[in-house]
Amino acid sequence: MQDQAPYYHQIGKEIEVFEHAYKNKISFLLKGPTGTGKSRFIEYMAHKLDKKLITISCHEETSSTDLVGRYIIKGTETIWSDGPLTTAIKEGAIIYLDEIAEARPDVIVAIHSLTDHRRELFIDKLGETVKAHEDFMLVASFNPGYQKGFKELKPSTRQRFIATAFAYPDAKIEADILVNETGVDKDIAKKLVNIATKIRNLTELGLAETVSTRLLVDAAKLIHSGLPKRLSVEVAIVEPLTDDLDVVEALKDLCNLMI
Ligand SMILES: Nc1ncnc2c1ncn2[C@@H]1O[C@H](COP(=O)(O)OP(=O)(O)OP(=O)(O)O)[C@@H](O)[C@H]1O
Ligand SMILES: [Mg+2]
Repeated sequence: MQDQAPYYHQIGKEIEVFEHAYKNKISFLLKGPTGTGKSRFIEYMAHKLDKKLITISCHEETSSTDLVGRYIIKGTETIWSDGPLTTAIKEGAIIYLDEIAEARPDVIVAIHSLTDHRRELFIDKLGETVKAHEDFMLVASFNPGYQKGFKELKPSTRQRFIATAFAYPDAKIEADILVNETGVDKDIAKKLVNIATKIRNLTELGLAETVSTRLLVDAAKLIHSGLPKRLSVEVAIVEPLTDDLDVVEALKDLCNLMI
């Protein structure tokens, strides 16, 4: 466990909500677009509650076997190896299933009995049911904003979680985050946030995802380390957003006027 708490600036009441969810062992869903602090929040909460955090980045190949465990061949023997979910259940860790909707459907099936009063996992390959340690908690994230390859979570899955929506923070908080996270000047932080606010409001650009706090943090880091401001904004904010050359040019002009 790291000694220093990860830096996290509360946006709403998510810290209190999480503490109560943890006390009551109700699974927790973090909803929201990329780069809004979901991963940072769960790292912060695990540290605050002094619990081990096990993070799994789910993708379309993630199966229940990856989470629960599998037999592996060692020399001439076949031995069982717990997956990260089984480990978390036994040790009483917090498991964070990042982008849960991406995972294969059998993952959702596997967690069902963990996310209700049973709090147990059935390991079919062993024919065993494991009861969760009382400190175990399941947390998942979900980005409802994807426009391509959109994946939903079924209501019967969603309703097993308490859910908190993450969004871009208010301008003042977002500027504070940039200053705290990167050491950049307050004045530059405010300008970066103004750029973000402006681009976020340009819905007609049809961007799949707009400027996240993560992109602003990256731009602030580059500026703080001495890269020219306009170039920093171009490479950290404009280019990651789109490959459409006309949009890139328009955004570059806009940003140059604002920084
Ligand atoms: N509330 C916040 N407090 C402190 N830092 C923040 C906060 N929100 C965002 N950040 C900054 O933004 C960066 C991106 O946040 P994070 O990685 O937690 O996003 P995420 O929501 O998990 O994104 P993804 O969906 O892409 O995984 C962090 O590394 C941190 O620098
Ligand atoms: Mg994340």
